[in-house]
Amino acid sequence: MKKDFICIWDLDKSKILNLFQSANYLKKLTKEGKVYHPLEGKTLAMIFEKSSTRTRVSFEVGMYQLGGRSLFLSSQDIQLGRGESIEDTARVLSRYVDGIMIRTTEHQRVERLAKASTVPVINGLTDLLHPCQALSDYYTLWEKEKELDKIKLAYIGDGNNVCHSLILGAAKLNISIWVATPKEYQPQKKIIKIIKKAKEGEEKIHLLRDPKQAVEQADVVYTDVWTSMGWEKETEIRKKIFQPYQLNLALLSKAKPDALVMHCLPAHRGEEITNEVIDGKNSIVFEQAENRLHLQKAILLDLLG
Ligand code: CP
Ligand code: NVA
Repeated sequence: MKKDFICIWDLDKSKILNLFQSANYLKKLTKEGKVYHPLEGKTLAMIFEKSSTRTRVSFEVGMYQLGGRSLFLSSQDIQLGRGESIEDTARVLSRYVDGIMIRTTEHQRVERLAKASTVPVINGLTDLLHPCQALSDYYTLWEKEKELDKIKLAYIGDGNNVCHSLILGAAKLNISIWVATPKEYQPQKKIIKIIKKAKEGEEKIHLLRDPKQAVEQADVVYTDVWTSMGWEKETEIRKKIFQPYQLNLALLSKAKPDALVMHCLPAHRGEEITNEVIDGKNSIVFEQAENRLHLQKAILLDLLG
C-alpha cells in the first residue's frame, strides 16, 4: 500500500525517531558536500493553493539534492484553479509523477487528493495542520536536547494549523506542551479529541489563557502569526485580541534563561514577536527553517525511495 504523510498522528514514536535519524544522516552528507542520489529519476509534483517560501524551496531543493526533480504547480496555473476536481487532478498526476506535495485550504482537500492518488501525498499545510513544520521543529529540538520527554514547550498565540500539529506531535513524543491562546482562538476540539481517544500523552497537554503561566520556566517558547493565510479579513480585530500574547522580552523573561525561541516563519515582526526576541540570543528560528530541508528529505526518502 502506498504511504502518505498527512498528519503527524499517523506516525508512531519509533517511526518519528527513525525520520530524525535519517534527517541527521542526510544533513551530515549535505554539510560534507557528498552527493547522494537515491531518488534519481523520481519527480515530485508540488501543488500550491497558498503562498510559500520555505516549504516550496525546501522541497524543491530537497528533491534536487536527492537526485530527483520537482514541479512547482501554482493552482492558478493548472486546471485545478479553473475547477478541475481534486480527484481528477490526483488521477492524472499519479500517472506522471512519483509523489505529490500539496499546500491548500480545507484539510479535506488533502485527504481527497490522497484517496484518489496512487502515489504518496504529502501535506505541505492546510487550514487545520502543518505536519512537516511540526515534525522538523521537533527534529530541531531532538537534535539539541535529545530528551524531548523532559522539556516544557510553551506555544503562545493562535490555536492554528501549526499549533495543532505541535500538539499532536507533542502527544506522540511525550512532550509537555502548554498552549496559551485567547478564548476565541483555542485549538480545535477535534484535535484534542484525537489525543483523548487514544489515551496517548493527554496529561501533558495544557490549554490555558494566560501566556505568562504557559511560559513560566519553559524550555522552549514558540509562536506563530496572529493571522494565518486565508484569515486576512480578521487582521485588525486579531491584532487587538492577541496583543497580550506578543512574545517580547518581558514575556520571555518568565521562561528559563536559556529557553529556545521558535517561530515557523514568516514572522510579522512587531506583532506576535518583537525584533529583540526573534533576533536575540535565544532564537533558533533560522536553524529551525533550515531543518525543514533535512527533515523533509527524510520524508521524501521514506515515501518515494
Ligand atoms: N513555515 C512555512 O511553512 O513557511 P512558508 O509559508 O514560507 O512555506
Ligand atoms: N499559521 C500560518 C503558518 C504559515 C507557515 C499560516 O497558516 O499562514
